[in-house]
Amino acid sequence: MSKTIIVSNRLPVKITEKDGEYVLNPSEGGLATGLGSIYRQGYNIWIGWPGLEVNEAYQPQIREQLTEMNLMPVYLTQEEINNYYEGFSNEILWPVFHYMSVYARYEQVYWDYYYQVNSKFRDVVLQVAEPGDVIWIHDYQLLLLPGMIRAEAPDVAIGYFQHIPFPSFELFRLIPWRAELLEGMLGADLLGFHTFDDSHHFLNAVTRLLPVNASANVVMANDRAVIAETFPMGIDNAKFEELSDDPEVLRQLESLKEAFGDTHMVLSIDRLDYSKGILQRLQAFELFLQLYPEYVEKVILYMIVVPSRDTVTQYKELRDAIDRLAGSINARFRTINWHPINYFYRSFPVETLAALYNFADIGLVTPMRDGMNLVSKEYVASRKHNNGVLILSEMAGASKELQDALIVNPNNIGAIARALHEALNMPLQEQTRRMKQMRQVVAKFNIAHWVKLFMARLQEVKQLQQSMLAR
Ligand code: G6P
Repeated sequence: MSKTIIVSNRLPVKITEKDGEYVLNPSEGGLATGLGSIYRQGYNIWIGWPGLEVNEAYQPQIREQLTEMNLMPVYLTQEEINNYYEGFSNEILWPVFHYMSVYARYEQVYWDYYYQVNSKFRDVVLQVAEPGDVIWIHDYQLLLLPGMIRAEAPDVAIGYFQHIPFPSFELFRLIPWRAELLEGMLGADLLGFHTFDDSHHFLNAVTRLLPVNASANVVMANDRAVIAETFPMGIDNAKFEELSDDPEVLRQLESLKEAFGDTHMVLSIDRLDYSKGILQRLQAFELFLQLYPEYVEKVILYMIVVPSRDTVTQYKELRDAIDRLAGSINARFRTINWHPINYFYRSFPVETLAALYNFADIGLVTPMRDGMNLVSKEYVASRKHNNGVLILSEMAGASKELQDALIVNPNNIGAIARALHEALNMPLQEQTRRMKQMRQVVAKFNIAHWVKLFMARLQEVKQLQQSMLAR
């Protein structure tokens, strides 16, 4: 019987190590939930890196524990982690794909390891893949994998989904290994992107850099039709709706009401990342307080930054810069009873996030560049009373769907400050009209819908290829 194999850099579990003991916890991420309906069934399986270097002596034991959860590990050495994950993935692809190419470091050794680790993933996939299987590969850490699998198993169905933006050709061409990356991607049958612009940029890069024929969204790669299409990813909407009525969330919501009373809360939640526009957001909040001093003591910015990739230099530097700027704004505007910014550098359980989504009058989501941005959708899904205002960057994929947000250019500090003022003064009726529209979109195009659509389309593409062969 054929099966589905999911492959991503990280497995959907968090493994932590303490004094040589390893503890496994299922991850709560959206992708893990969405694909749960697939990889937990029958012989289906999810292949990926456990997220840390596992001592060799413990590898068989962890493999066994993972097998029980339909997961299969790709173990990486510290050198591989440094050069493939931190290096090529996060110091070349991440900055270039997020239009921040000045951060890129084109080191040959990063490429060598990227190639090596993608081959390692291929070997693990080939251990389990059989003719007729469907393989769904996720994200930029594994761009070479579709091509590497295709070379060994020409008939399998391979889908690839890119969770981050695909940059304009002028950015993508900067990468020394650009042609190899595209050839790797073309090993897939179906390539999915969050927005039309991303898939368009991909197709443009392919036709400019490779000797292939393409018409509309179909590329002919070695006589095989490869299709690039848009699949905007959704969230587990029902989960956030249910959380809004969860007793623990309601308890935390009461505590927030007690602590903040009538103070308006502006909520900002991100992973630590320079693509998220956190410094510009802080500057905008500072300008807002300067332009509208009547809001001193009446508004707070509640800012959660979730630690991430903090072994990469630019991330460490960003963290220091956020500390300094948040500190200086607080020092400038604080009063005896009020701090304008409540800043947290840590992660919180989903119940706490849900309570904050429910409490905050404004969701402030202003990335410089973001593939989709699921926080904006989680905020919307949590607003069961249809009030509150979302301020959303036009550079986030989500802005294509959530058009009833106040859409801003994240580089325009003045526009963000004015949007905060507009949001705080928006009549309830207008808030409700906008929020209802956005809630419908988020509820309908949820993660289950996204998974179903992608899988169905992959099957159609396979059929299309067969009918082309028969002609
Ligand atoms: C983004 C990427 C994912 C990645 C996640 C967390 O959402 O699209 O592929 O897993 O960030 O980053 P990390 O480097 O910790 O896996």
